[in-house]
Amino acid sequence: MSTTPDASLQIPENTGRETRVIVAVNESGGSVKTTTVSALAAIAAEAGLQVLAIEADSQRDLSHILGYDDPDADDNIATLYDVVDGLAALDEAIIPARRGEGGPVIPNLWLVPGSRKLKNLEDLLATATLREMWLNRLMPSVVGRFDVIFIDCPGDLKLTTKGALVSSKEVEVMACVKSQLKEARALTELEATLDDINGAFAPFGVKLEVDWVVIGESVSDKSQGKVYEDAEAQLREAYGNLVLTPSVRRSTKVPEAYSAQVALPIYAPRSEPAVQYRGVAEGMGLTQAS
Ligand SMILES: Nc1ncnc2c1ncn2[C@@H]1O[C@H](COP(=O)(O)OP(=O)(O)O)[C@@H](O)[C@H]1O
Ligand SMILES: [Mg+2]
Repeated sequence: MSTTPDASLQIPENTGRETRVIVAVNESGGSVKTTTVSALAAIAAEAGLQVLAIEADSQRDLSHILGYDDPDADDNIATLYDVVDGLAALDEAIIPARRGEGGPVIPNLWLVPGSRKLKNLEDLLATATLREMWLNRLMPSVVGRFDVIFIDCPGDLKLTTKGALVSSKEVEVMACVKSQLKEARALTELEATLDDINGAFAPFGVKLEVDWVVIGESVSDKSQGKVYEDAEAQLREAYGNLVLTPSVRRSTKVPEAYSAQVALPIYAPRSEPAVQYRGVAEGMGLTQAS
């Protein structure tokens, strides 16, 4: 069915291509997950990759940044919650990312919007068998259409996040942190959760580890400098090459882009954090379409 006149609104066909699945996690909120997903997704799309961003967070910040402030309010939009609730298939919930609310479509970038109802996901799945597989069951309709699928998680490691982590066999775990000791410690918690999942899901071939660490809001200011540098040094010592370079600096451009409802690399392409995110994307192999 290819009756849509505007080719840019045509969801990519399933060509059986290899699809990377990258899951942004950290047990705490405010740890730059959504900023990182929106930035890397925009950069990869600009490089010509077909990109899908799935919002698994009831806060809906990713949907906001990608042009949809309140997906629940629009009857024509199916959210991720609706999909889990059986009202639509996952590929039917895909909408084009936009530059601002109702703004122009961003080529190659697609969104499955979040819903405030996602906070009730545990209730919805209360009686489901193998409920951690809630997203895994839905993925076949989108894998093979995209080069990369990002999943933005809530700030905890509960059922929603676990489902994202076991959504496909070869998930890449992207830990997003600020350069603060508290956040670095949160990675220990993440690793314990990964171990737990690996133990439980070994029969399904799940073998998770931290694949990438993105430092998404570092501070160079001299007065606070020392503690941040220590935290960064610790991260690099513990995770070596997994810590992507450069770290992304704190910048007012990030909240500005959020307010404008536009992904940072599109809002301020030459800004310091956008350039830094491009370096991160390159390190992850997200800047070259195959
Ligand atoms: N490099 C940065 N400079 C300044 N503010 C940032 C930066 N990165 C993220 N922020 C802000 O920090 C807050 C938390 O970031 P966000 O990506 O929403 O985290 P999470 O998704 O983990 O909750 C947001 O208000 C965001 O705009
Ligand atoms: Mg978020």
